[in-house]
Amino acid sequence: MADLYESLLSNNVGRSLLNSLNLPVPTPLERHSPTQTSFLSGNVLVGAAPGGRMLDVIAATLKQSNATALVTQNAANAAEIKQAGDKADLKFTNVDPASEGARFKALIFDATGVETSEQTRELYNFFHPVIKKLADCGRLVVIGTPPESCKTNPRAQIAQRALEGFIRSVAKEVGKKGATANLVYVAKQAEKSAESALRFFLSPKSAFVDAQVLRVSKGKALPEGFNWNLPLAGKVALVTGASRGIGESIAEVMARDGATVVCLDVPQAKEGLQKVADRIGGSILPIDITDSVAPKTIADTLKQQYGGVDIVVHNAGVTRDKTLGGMPEHFWDMVININLASEERINDALVEQEVLREGGRIVCVSSMSGIAGNFGQSNYAVSKAGVIGMVDAYAPILAKKDITINAVAPGFIETQMTAAIPFATREAGRRLNSLKQGGQPVDVAETIAFYSSPASSGVTGNTVRVCGQNLLGA
Ligand SMILES: NC(=O)c1ccc[n+]([C@@H]2O[C@H](COP(=O)([O-])OP(=O)(O)OC[C@H]3O[C@@H](n4cnc5c(N)ncnc54)[C@H](O)[C@@H]3O)[C@@H](O)[C@H]2O)c1
Repeated sequence: MADLYESLLSNNVGRSLLNSLNLPVPTPLERHSPTQTSFLSGNVLVGAAPGGRMLDVIAATLKQSNATALVTQNAANAAEIKQAGDKADLKFTNVDPASEGARFKALIFDATGVETSEQTRELYNFFHPVIKKLADCGRLVVIGTPPESCKTNPRAQIAQRALEGFIRSVAKEVGKKGATANLVYVAKQAEKSAESALRFFLSPKSAFVDAQVLRVSKGKALPEGFNWNLPLAGKVALVTGASRGIGESIAEVMARDGATVVCLDVPQAKEGLQKVADRIGGSILPIDITDSVAPKTIADTLKQQYGGVDIVVHNAGVTRDKTLGGMPEHFWDMVININLASEERINDALVEQEVLREGGRIVCVSSMSGIAGNFGQSNYAVSKAGVIGMVDAYAPILAKKDITINAVAPGFIETQMTAAIPFATREAGRRLNSLKQGGQPVDVAETIAFYSSPASSGVTGNTVRVCGQNLLGA
């Protein structure tokens, strides 16, 4: 059925009508396009609380972009910011935020120096004069220190934890213009490992990632000759559930970024799977992941055909919704088995047999249901909360082998599955977020590609929601 709301949004008359009815009129989100020459263009204003330790990395990152770096005229630490620019051979230009024409594509604030609740005033000082001048689809990024690492200084721990409230609130204020706000907690000594996160949150690749908190720990130096435009070159990636929907998009984005993709799905989906693989120059592995021989078959195939695997994306998943009292037991068993238990078994096989190579990446697909719960989805929510538990439990274990494990938790994503939801429920699901629209499969795929990059070796143990700051859940 044609989607009435979407068709009204696609023309000016329809948008005015929705506006006059006080209904949400979202700003179309900018997404990555192959013609884009840089991850960020336009005016970028940088600020910092005194004592921050991220300015060098911010300057070095911006140097790699097409952005114009700006500093607030008369800012107390303007000299310090410009000095960081000099080190990176990046010129910061003075700007008067009050000037008529001032407009910013991104606002970046280094809050790592905030050590007391009184110093949170630095956020107000920097953002208050400029927040209304953030452009459509702009980016607001705050960088902090992980509160749990400030244990010897409780005041600093409190102040750093307080940054979350700031991000979650301003994201709600800027969302109507398609802009996002995110927080990156960078561990001490991990400053240089934060570049991939900064690039991701500043770029259109994070279009539907909003009000999230990402932790970066110390990772490895970038491999020699690393190409940011082809970050997965030479890598082999396994993507489960790749014949359609989000999995198909993940496979495409992985291939775009240079990976050779092994597309896995159930044997019944072989035809669609082959089409996806042919389009991206990958191969197929038709197997049911719950089959008792699946872990060994997958491990053996990857070993024989590619000598191993670098990236494993656990995307295959199903729903079998029923309220608990009416749920047949096979609904419970099937959902837990596909969405969670089979992933654990496959990980075990790939790690124990060292098929997953050193520096490997595991990325899991959770769901907002696993965070907020959902009526009629107790089985699904258990499986998807379990996926988050898997990330938490295995991140420290796998770190010893230089393997990272992270998850994405999609909110409302436009797929065949969500298109089949009745109109009123679908519209509620789609609009109940700060960006007032559903996400695209590519938004989930871009986040997975960010986790998968060799540049993200310091990013592990995270669950990032790809939900436009859905109002459900934290
Ligand atoms: N669409 C959304 O809005 C949304 C929201 C949150 C989470 N998710 C999650 O994202 C993932 C992809 O969802 P989608 O919307 O693309 O769903 P989809 O149904 O379109 O795709 C899922 C794929 O997994 C495959 N699959 C199912 N069981 C399998 C098995 N036993 N072995 C191998 N492959 C199997 C299916 O054949 C299918 O191709 C799922 O894990 C889902 O739970 C989706």
